[in-house]
Order: sequence, then C-alpha cells, then structure tokens
Amino acid sequence: MAKTIEQAQSDKRTGWKSMGSIVTGVAGFIGSHLAEALLDRGERVIGIDHFNSYYDPMLKYRNIANFIHHPLFELIEGDIQRVNWSTLLHGIEVIYHQAAQAGVRASWGEGFRTYTDRNINATQVILEAARDAQDLQRIVFASTSSVYGNAETLPTYETLPPEPVSPYGITKLAAERLCWLYHHNFGVPVTALRYFTVYGPRQRPDMAFHKFSRRYYKPANSYLWRWSANAGLYLRYRCCCGKLGGGNHRNRRGRSV
Ligand SMILES: NC(=O)c1ccc[n+]([C@@H]2O[C@H](COP(=O)([O-])OP(=O)(O)OC[C@H]3O[C@@H](n4cnc5c(N)ncnc54)[C@H](O)[C@@H]3O)[C@@H](O)[C@H]2O)c1
Repeated sequence: MAKTIEQAQSDKRTGWKSMGSIVTGVAGFIGSHLAEALLDRGERVIGIDHFNSYYDPMLKYRNIANFIHHPLFELIEGDIQRVNWSTLLHGIEVIYHQAAQAGVRASWGEGFRTYTDRNINATQVILEAARDAQDLQRIVFASTSSVYGNAETLPTYETLPPEPVSPYGITKLAAERLCWLYHHNFGVPVTALRYFTVYGPRQRPDMAFHKFSRRYYKPANSYLWRWSANAGLYLRYRCCCGKLGGGNHRNRRGRSV
C-alpha cells in the first residue's frame, strides 16, 4: 500500500532488519521494471515516486500495479527532496536513482526550472544524504546519451567529451558531475549509466516508439505516412516498423517501411 513519507519512515525505524534497495522514480517506465526485477530476485525494495503529471499519473499507478502489494515492497509517495534520507538509508545497500524529469523538447523555455529541480537539486539531496550512509554500497545514477549531444559518434565511447545540445542533457550532465564531485570529495560510491533510448512495455507516452506504435494501430494511419515521408525518421524507425508490421507498408515515395 502507498504510505505517506512520514508513515513509511516511521516504519523504517522499527521495521525491516535485512538490507534492501531504493528505487527512485519507481512508478516510471524504467523504475517500475527495475523494481519488479529486484523483487523477483527476492530483494527488498523501497520505491519513491511523486507521480508528477508530466504524463498521466494513472499510467504510473498502472506501472506498479503488478507489485504494489508485494510483501517485500514499500511505496513512498512523495518528492525526493522531502524525504528524510538519513532515516531512510538505514539498511539500504543500493540506491537506483531513476527519478528525473526526462524528455528533450520540454526542457526548453519555461520548463527548464522543472528540469533543474528534478534532475540537479533532487540528485544533490540524495548525494548529500549518502555521505553518512553506513550501509550504502552503491548509487546507480540513470544518466543519458543526451549528454553526448554533438559529441556522439557510432560507436559512442564514454571517453568522448560530452557536448549536450539540450537543456535536458545539460541538467543530466550537471547531475553526473555532482555524482563525481561527491565521490571525489567524500568517497560516495556512484556509478552513472548513460542510457540510450530504452523502449518496451510501459514506455513513456512522450517517446517516439510509444507514439509511433500507438498511431500505427489506428485505422486511419495518417501519422505513419507523415513520419515515414521523412527519410531520416524512416531509417531511424525502420527496425521498429519491421518488428511491428513485417515491413509491409510503403511510404509516399513507395519505399518499404
Ligand atoms: N526512457 C529512456 O529512453 C531514457 C533514456 C535515457 C535516460 N533515461 C533516464 O532514465 C530515468 C528513467 O526514465 P523513464 O523513461 O523511466 O522516465 P519516467 O518519467 O517514466 O520515470 C521517472 C519517474 O520519476 C518520478 N520523479 C521525477 N522527479 C521526482 C522527484 N523529485 N521525486 C519523486 N519522484 C520523481 C516521476 O513521477 C516518474 O514516475 C530518467 O532518469 C531518465 O532521464 C531514460
């Protein structure tokens, strides 16, 4: 069952004896899969999410429906920056920090403040708490290929100097650098993983594969034609279309999609 921050933390004080993990952004696309996998392995998981409205929160509740009642799972419904981390981190070995404001386009303009808050400030709060966490073995920070920006080549080596080309990439790179700073100064054990586009069930509805697949199954398939008419997008989504439709569709130029 969902608990308020205060209830969950009070349970922690008297509660679990064995070690566990925290998954931030647990109700999101990647966080929900990760938590489910950990629970399947018999691990205890505390999930934190504030169910923001970047996309429909009902989808997020659906993401965690499979395991919300799992005996090894606790949900803290709230903002990372409001959690009493020092209490919560007792008996926690790993923090999988997945929570963020994702999405490149919305990071321009007025949206930027949300990105700095959820990506930089929230990460700093966790890192600060981690300094004194006795049981903590590792923080795994979900970074992004967006930090490469113009530096991206294929294959992309992590030794490339990052050159983000979006405000989103800038905030994730800043959070990565904070991770490094806390490791360098205080020995906080952090690993940053730079995910490239992740797709699959529960994918965020603002992401291309999700939009594309949803429109694909609509009877009047104008969206498919609009997208596939662009040669760049055609190449990029060819693999996805091949899986969905076996390459049976043709775009306006008569190319197989
Ligand atoms: N999906 C991808 O292809 C992809 C690619 C590169 C990097 N990433 C990174 O992976 C992580 C997960 O991405 P996703 O696609 O699952 O996103 P998502 O939006 O589905 O999940 C993020 C979750 O974090 C929660 N959240 C955000 N800020 C919070 C806060 N301050 N307190 C509590 N909860 C908060 C949101 O409510 C949401 O449920 C993100 O850090 C993202 O930057 C994702």
